[in-house]
Amino acid sequence: MGLGRGNALRGSRLASARPGGSRGARLGTAYGGGTRSARRWRPIEQKEGVVTEAISSVSSTVGGAEAPLYLPVGDETEVFAAAWRSGLPILLKGPTGCGKTRLVEHMVHRFGVPLFTVSCHEDMTASDLLGRYLLVGGDTRWVDGPLTRAVREGGICYLDEVVEARQDAIVAIHSLTDHRRQLSLERLGGTLLSAAPGFQLVVSYNPGYQSVLKDLKASTRQRMVAIELGFPPAEIERKILIEESGISDVEADNLIRLGQAIRRLDDAGLCEVASTRTLIAAAALMQQGLSFRTATIAAIAGPLTDDPGLRGGLVSLLDAYSTTG
Ligand SMILES: Nc1ncnc2c1ncn2[C@@H]1O[C@H](COP(=O)(O)OP(=O)(O)O)[C@@H](O)[C@H]1O
Ligand SMILES: [Mg+2]
Repeated sequence: MGLGRGNALRGSRLASARPGGSRGARLGTAYGGGTRSARRWRPIEQKEGVVTEAISSVSSTVGGAEAPLYLPVGDETEVFAAAWRSGLPILLKGPTGCGKTRLVEHMVHRFGVPLFTVSCHEDMTASDLLGRYLLVGGDTRWVDGPLTRAVREGGICYLDEVVEARQDAIVAIHSLTDHRRQLSLERLGGTLLSAAPGFQLVVSYNPGYQSVLKDLKASTRQRMVAIELGFPPAEIERKILIEESGISDVEADNLIRLGQAIRRLDDAGLCEVASTRTLIAAAALMQQGLSFRTATIAAIAGPLTDDPGLRGGLVSLLDAYSTTG
């Protein structure tokens, strides 16, 4: 358990650096201490760009920074913003690498609130979310977990891959998902915290990975606003590729066509298809001077399968696309 805790704490760093490049969220830590448990949260009137008392300590790290690029595919940014203003939690669904985390980073930047990201895993306990007593110089001191910090500071707590989490960790979020927006810290003498303005819970998962056992409880789901993402349509994904990597139109077109062809291979036996993330990785390698073939083998075919036969099939496919356009 000790190991799991350590991992979870590491995984819950604020708005961590993005592998996707320089456009990642850049929010600093903000907690200035003090409880705001007495604050009423209803009616919620959270406004984009308005820095409230709860978030003033991070405004300097947010202000002026470029928002992480997010090109909307449908009305997801409007739904997200409306849910945030209403204090409603969000259930973000979609395949791996389709833009879930990026959407959250983009919206957090728009709202001007701190982001607490937790990568969920099966050893994660409620304490990893809520906090725990730690030994500090021969003394024990309570240290808030990321969920508690988000509640106190009016930030967004983003539980990434929530279906990986154990049920007892998920129980901790129940009272936050209903109208009370309260968090009870039993281990801290039963302290009851009301969420500060700006607080929002966002959970994401890949429906393709879902196992019946680990499914979210219906009662939790029904309290959430669902946003369903897929891979962006070709024209938008092409723009994303160019924006994120700087590759040429022709190279982007070839990658997009390859990606679409791989996504059509329903029964190929691949556990994943070529995601927007893998296409961007291939584009980044090409920007480093690698050929289309080398880059797509390294960033797409290799990660997608260990099976030699399948890999061979993918390589033939990508060879076909490297010569088009
Ligand atoms: N709509 C979008 N606008 C801009 N970039 C996107 C979009 N969708 C995906 N991306 C890019 O794809 C990468 C992977 O997306 P990410 O949000 O990490 O996926 P997920 O969290 O769904 O696994 C991002 O780093 C970003 O570069
Ligand atoms: Mg993600």
